[in-house]
Amino acid sequence: MAEEFPVAVLLSGDGTTLQNLLDLHDGGELDIDVRLVISSRRDAYGLQRAHNHGIATLVLPRGRFDSVADYTRAVFDPVRDAGARLVILAGFMVQIGVPKDFRHRILNVHPALIPAFCGKGMYGHFVHEAVLESGVKITGCTVHFVDDEYDHGPIVLQSAVPVLDDDTPDTLAERVQAEERRIYPEAVRLFIEDRLKITGNRVRGVDGPSAETPQPQSKGE
Ligand code: GAR
Repeated sequence: MAEEFPVAVLLSGDGTTLQNLLDLHDGGELDIDVRLVISSRRDAYGLQRAHNHGIATLVLPRGRFDSVADYTRAVFDPVRDAGARLVILAGFMVQIGVPKDFRHRILNVHPALIPAFCGKGMYGHFVHEAVLESGVKITGCTVHFVDDEYDHGPIVLQSAVPVLDDDTPDTLAERVQAEERRIYPEAVRLFIEDRLKITGNRVRGVDGPSAETPQPQSKGE
């Protein structure tokens, strides 16, 4: 078996995204070692899922911290201590910053086709409600690297699903989340196999380990 890649998972809710990753791991299909689960909410069921798997957990409510910078520090100190080299956001509803050593090492899944239906207030069922209200015929999900802007950063994978005439937010969420369960582990796999090459805001899949390409520095960076 390949060596397992140490990761930390951040969540705020039900934790079905975490469960999917753990199930794939247990089935031998995803070589990750979830070292730590951090929740922004004490009542998140995702914590129970982590306990069931014997994974260390930590609860960090955002309200206890004055700024995004303080909260980011509180999250990443234990992430580093746990030895995680990738942070997977799994329904994590709090904004965090990106420390230098985690640039392009934080993945997020968003339940829409970024840059549509994203930004502040657009999370979970609010996204599907907004999609239905807008009348679009196609939506989907996006896996992207996190940067300092909300629901932003280089896009790794996207998948589109149809919006059907009789959809409710729940039926639409179900269709979108089925795709999330497919493309999120795929993106994690590409990352841990070092098969993602990032140039500016574009991410390409490559066959083997990608050589670290120097990024052109734009003014003001
Ligand atoms: C997922 O559908 C994910 O796309 C969404 O929250 C859900 C979490 O479900 N994330 C966002 O809206 C982030 N902007 P879970 O708690 O059952 O994993």
